[in-house]
Amino acid sequence: MNLHDSEKMLGVLQKEGYCETDNPLRADLIIFNTCSIRQKAEQKFYSELGRMKEYKKRKPGLKIAVAGCIAQQEGKNIFKKAPHIDFIFGPQNIHFLTDLVSGRITPVAVNDNPDIALRDLPVKREDGIKAWITIMYGCNNFCSYCIVPYTRGRERSRPSENIYAEVSALAENGYKEITLLGQNVNSYKSDIDFPGLLKKLNGIGGIERIRFVTSHPKDLSDGLIHAISELPKICEHIHLPIQSGSSKILNLMNRGYTCDDYMKKVSELRKKIPDLSITSDIIAGFPGETDDDHMLTIKVLKEIEFDGIFAFKFSPRSRTKAAEMQNQVPENIKSVRLHEILQLQDEITVIKNKHLEGTVQEILIEGNSETDSEKLTGRARSNKIVNIPMADIEKGKSVKVEITKGRKHSLEGIPVKE
Ligand code: 5AD
Ligand code: SF4
Repeated sequence: MNLHDSEKMLGVLQKEGYCETDNPLRADLIIFNTCSIRQKAEQKFYSELGRMKEYKKRKPGLKIAVAGCIAQQEGKNIFKKAPHIDFIFGPQNIHFLTDLVSGRITPVAVNDNPDIALRDLPVKREDGIKAWITIMYGCNNFCSYCIVPYTRGRERSRPSENIYAEVSALAENGYKEITLLGQNVNSYKSDIDFPGLLKKLNGIGGIERIRFVTSHPKDLSDGLIHAISELPKICEHIHLPIQSGSSKILNLMNRGYTCDDYMKKVSELRKKIPDLSITSDIIAGFPGETDDDHMLTIKVLKEIEFDGIFAFKFSPRSRTKAAEMQNQVPENIKSVRLHEILQLQDEITVIKNKHLEGTVQEILIEGNSETDSEKLTGRARSNKIVNIPMADIEKGKSVKVEITKGRKHSLEGIPVKE
């Protein structure tokens, strides 16, 4: 989401004649697009911010801005911590960037923007093959640990016509894969619902693959399961955050489902879409999580066998309910639990990837591998990374590949003759 917001900022600035540089010493404008989902992300930003004083001394005309969720949360307080900052704008105020740069408006833009879903911004994309598209903004769920509803505001869906037009333009420019973005895509609702949107986009010629993140288990409908299984361009992958294997903790998290509900959705998905890859998010050490609760998470990981997970230590975020809860779990216990979760999942991921050896997968070629100069890299429809021997295959081509090796983070394969 944040990376895509950066693409929008670049799109707006490009219209003003700015271009990008990877050398901050040459920049006339530096924007920090910050994240505050966990404390670690915040810390990264604050340590960078101090260094900016030096930059400003060297180049007095330099403008420095803070964007993203920290900007939204802190607003003008950032000026107190860092007087060398020029302006501040939240994720709902990217459309003001031109006015902020030119000094036409006051340097703090953090108001709610009820029109966000109707204001389409220019986007500067680099890839040429894969693109992100926002379909909805904000979140109404208020999971008790999460800052997002406070920083990105209420749910607002873009009209399906606008999304259709954006994707059609991408297809005309040679794009092959789109990823639809929203905090909870299942609650997309404009003139049509989410399965309806998938059906509409599935009809756009030239686009070969459609992905979406993130799905909320409580809103995962039969209609969506049907759409994934029936529509040929929807990839067989779903990111479905479970967060915990303990229904008691899920209740405290305000997630709106039990562990059993989640398991039922998974078995329904697997019944209807046999090759489906399922990934998830886990939080270790939520307040009140006992050893028994943790063991329930371990149990559910073993039972479900996700293709991969992102796991995090619980990080108290100001304004959220969970930050105020009693029974906060000590940091050392959180670390041990996180380690156990990650270690178990690594073992499961390797076994799952080894099971794919000998199968034939469709790979969309993304270019040369960054880690091995003798390989090309791409992704299977499951979203798994697949490396193949260097060959004369253009970026953006889809090839059938036989998997020869399954590893922890990637697969290896060789193209098969059709
Ligand atoms: N602490 C730890 N993890 C969090 N996430 C969101 N908020 C927090 C928090 N306060 C995780 C959830 C979510 C993912 C995007 O980040 O697992 O699904
Ligand atoms: Fe945060 Fe929950 Fe909304 Fe996801 S669904 S963004 S975890 S509040």
